[in-house]
Amino acid sequence: METTEKLAQDPFQAYMESTGLPIYRGHHVADLRTVELAWWPERECNAAFTELAGQEGITEGRITEIPAGKSLPPFRSAVDELVYVVSGQGIATVATDGRPKKTFEWQKFSLFLLPGGVTYQLANMQGDQPARLLHYSYMPLAMSLVMDHELLFNPPHETPDRIYNEDNPYAEAQLKLGRGWGSRNMRQVWTGNFFPDMRGWDKLNNLSGRGAGGASVMMRYPGSEVSSHMSVFPPGTYKKGHRHGPGRIIVIPGGEGFSIMWEEGHEKVIVPWQEASMFVPPDRWFHQHFNLGGTQARYLALHPPPQFYGRSEQVEDRERDQIEYPDEDPFVRNYFEEELAKRGLKTLMPEECYKDYNYTFAAAIAGD
Ligand SMILES: [Fe+2]
Repeated sequence: METTEKLAQDPFQAYMESTGLPIYRGHHVADLRTVELAWWPERECNAAFTELAGQEGITEGRITEIPAGKSLPPFRSAVDELVYVVSGQGIATVATDGRPKKTFEWQKFSLFLLPGGVTYQLANMQGDQPARLLHYSYMPLAMSLVMDHELLFNPPHETPDRIYNEDNPYAEAQLKLGRGWGSRNMRQVWTGNFFPDMRGWDKLNNLSGRGAGGASVMMRYPGSEVSSHMSVFPPGTYKKGHRHGPGRIIVIPGGEGFSIMWEEGHEKVIVPWQEASMFVPPDRWFHQHFNLGGTQARYLALHPPPQFYGRSEQVEDRERDQIEYPDEDPFVRNYFEEELAKRGLKTLMPEECYKDYNYTFAAAIAGD
């Protein structure tokens, strides 16, 4: 009798293994700037994949390092790639055959979209040091649906309207009214293919629902399903615990702290972070972010397709998917205060927030 095959492994996992590159698993990558990579002859760069718990089969995480002064070979993917610059600076060129090239410069902390169906080339402008990028895409889903992977990595059909509808598709993002993520309500969303500096980005909206007086920015990319947001929150504070669907990569542009992640009823996992740390909250695991530094902390969340968001962003599910401060496991507050004390710092969480369910934090970050 014939046996069925290939169902033991999802196609993207098989693909990653076929490259021979390192694949980082577990809950976090401590420092994307220094994590070990290996040479990838086909793409002429050093690289590694991340397949953290909660990413599997849904979102790709790939670290690439462009050698000093080098350009990578031109490449075209069928799916959109969101790129966050971990270190270095360089130039990206995007084009479709026979059309004028569009070029933009990126630097450390930039975030930009490389649309599917468009040929791109990345070059390191610095002759004395490598540049590191984190690429995020929905390629694992695409590989499960399209059996001919050549169509995904070298699609014969180009999509010129992704970059030729505007004079400068990589001009700075603009504020538009749109849906954020998982929300039925319209809100202010920054829209564009290029965000020059996520560490310095200061155009934020106040966000009272998740506590700590934080502020955030929602980001969309024209014509793309990909979205992201960044939250900024003050020193001495922490956000409310919450949970949602899988596939979200969180990367830290600046600040120092930790996150606690746990599946309901199970042991807690503590993930320390600082600039260039990356982690993924697994599917439906509660997670909570804590600022241990003397300055604002910011985390950038790269979102999976909307069907994976979970329902936690809808107000009617708050009771189920968000933990209010008075309902917290006492461990949470104690651990935070102990960690602050090790650094000679004290909590700035007001005592009232642990008693009053309706306590509203004053906005501590400048925002609209
Ligand atoms: Fe979250």
